[in-house]
Amino acid sequence: MKKVKVELGKKSYHILIGYPLDDIGRILKKYTTGIKALIITNPRIAEYYLETVDRSLRKLGFQVFVAQVPDGEEYKSLDEASKLYARCVEHRLERESIILGLGGGVIGDLAGYVAATFMRGLPIVQVPTTLLAQVDSSVGGKVAVNLPQGKNLVGSFYQPLLVYIDLAVLNTLPAEEMEAGLAEVIKYGIILDKNFFGYLERNIGRIRGLESQVLEGVVSRCCTLKAMVVEKDEREKGLRSILNFGHTLGHALEALSQYKEYKHGQAVAIGMVGATRIAEKMGLLKRGVGERIEHLIGEAGLPRRIEAELSIEGIIQILSLDKKVRAGKVRFVLPERIGRVVVRDDIPEQIVIDVVRGLMT
Ligand code: NAD
Ligand code: GLY
Repeated sequence: MKKVKVELGKKSYHILIGYPLDDIGRILKKYTTGIKALIITNPRIAEYYLETVDRSLRKLGFQVFVAQVPDGEEYKSLDEASKLYARCVEHRLERESIILGLGGGVIGDLAGYVAATFMRGLPIVQVPTTLLAQVDSSVGGKVAVNLPQGKNLVGSFYQPLLVYIDLAVLNTLPAEEMEAGLAEVIKYGIILDKNFFGYLERNIGRIRGLESQVLEGVVSRCCTLKAMVVEKDEREKGLRSILNFGHTLGHALEALSQYKEYKHGQAVAIGMVGATRIAEKMGLLKRGVGERIEHLIGEAGLPRRIEAELSIEGIIQILSLDKKVRAGKVRFVLPERIGRVVVRDDIPEQIVIDVVRGLMT
């Protein structure tokens, strides 16, 4: 069991890692005097874990309500948020009441958004059930819903009361979802921690084999690294943008394929390979480092090439749309060595085109 603190003054909170779901009621009692709890989840996760969480909360005297949202990114929407507000009203939730997001990043972002906005804010407890949500989306306070015009366009920074992680839930996670989460895990090594990257190289098989001791160390290191970044730059005015390593090209691939071809982590994996190659062409990265990065991404079961039927023009066009939003600049996070990145917005377009073309062959 591990406990990581995110130090944000009055908004500080704990991330509890390796805690069993059936103990959540007892632990949560230490963090709240609230009585009512609305669990937001989806049917797939409910089938595995709802009863355990529900029973644990009731045992400690919580009055529990459950709202299920259909499974899928398309339900991270204002429509679903408004149905959830109706449930909050129906159950007469008040300021002390807890909203508990039990699920992956979709549920976490949606539940967090509802918690941030209903009655100007109820406490949100994040109980992430995907690797991606455990190492990334449940930590740091970004909450959001999508609009038809784009992902995460409506949202806020709203820190949770508590993040409660049971690693055993990863046993039911499909392998592809596990791999998608590994892209974010590898990202932390490249941007911030060369020793951690080396550890991942040596232990990737044990991680994919879900060895619990190894997983506990990996998830807690990622949470510690993310906490360090968020503590320094909660609202992404500067440093926090390093967490977007691999995301510039990754987002373009996701958007161009209408979010159907790639899971987020898979697109980020290709984006990390792309950013690494751009860094090499810019003379920022020593020989051999790129090979190590690409090798580990491959060992994690992640794609390193663009195999989907996407056009290079389409990709460049999406990057240029991004550019309009960012005052004429496309921003890339580029590795200088393992454990250190730099944010650059002066990459010649021809280098980007050459790298993307290389990823397609
Ligand atoms: P997801 O929430 O869609 O979950 C993936 C799939 O796994 C779903 O079908 C889900 O029902 C299923 N699932 C979840 N836990 C399971 C378990 N333990 N066993 C079996 N099945 C399980 O996907 P995700 O990758 O967790 O999250 C993606 C979302 O996270 C996106 O909406 C993205 O925008 C958001 N995100 C947010 C942040 C942030 O900082 N807030 C960061 C990264 C990503
Ligand atoms: N997922 C990127 C961030 O939290 O800033």
